[in-house]
Amino acid sequence: MSANRGLLLALPKGRILEELTPLLARVGIVPEPAFSDESSRQLRFRTNDPDLDIIRVRSFDVATFVAFGAAELGVAGNDVLMEFDYPELYAPVDLGIGRCRLSVAAERDVAESDDPARWSHIRIATKYPAVTARHFAARGVQAECIKLNGAMELAPGLGLCRRIVDLVSSGRTLEANGLVELERIAEITSRLIVNRSALKTRPAELQPLVARFREAADAA
Ligand code: PRP
Repeated sequence: MSANRGLLLALPKGRILEELTPLLARVGIVPEPAFSDESSRQLRFRTNDPDLDIIRVRSFDVATFVAFGAAELGVAGNDVLMEFDYPELYAPVDLGIGRCRLSVAAERDVAESDDPARWSHIRIATKYPAVTARHFAARGVQAECIKLNGAMELAPGLGLCRRIVDLVSSGRTLEANGLVELERIAEITSRLIVNRSALKTRPAELQPLVARFREAADAA
């Protein structure tokens, strides 16, 4: 990590961008126009601050770039933070955007006949194997996780497993695929994350920026 370069802010791709753009505006960060163009292949963007650039990466990779110090700060959901549990990450501000929940779901008929109290070993398709295994282990259930990176709502219908663990927002994806929510594992929002050693070595640059994010989140 070089103190000679400007700061790098890692932001997630996808639908969170709609909520992120007004938040960035309140923080006083204006990205170059290509940032809001989902069809642009550009991955790194300048901002109105010559000492702050943005990179746009997958939500799980935001945590990885920041944990390894390749970016000083980023925006990640607590789903990602729970899954990785990186000690190098400090999450000082709940940004209050990207609200959804991490839930267990199954096909309607399974859900109706299912008694979670009787589970001892279950197979689950998920992007969150660590959180899922921990969640079930806490009540003595062994969860065998099949890692998928998306579209896990397809898995029960195709016989891969009977249950999935995934993010639920409006519930439309579950409904469209004949699934119902069985239980909630966690409520999710996006957090500002900062690399702990960067915060120690570059406090004069990072602390005011963290304070601006906190004010912007409080103002929402
Ligand atoms: C997420 C999640 C669900 C869906 C839930 O996927 O994995 O599939 O959103 O939202 P809903 O309850 O409003 O239907 P997303 O669209 O973010 O894409 P991803 O699969 O690439 O993560």
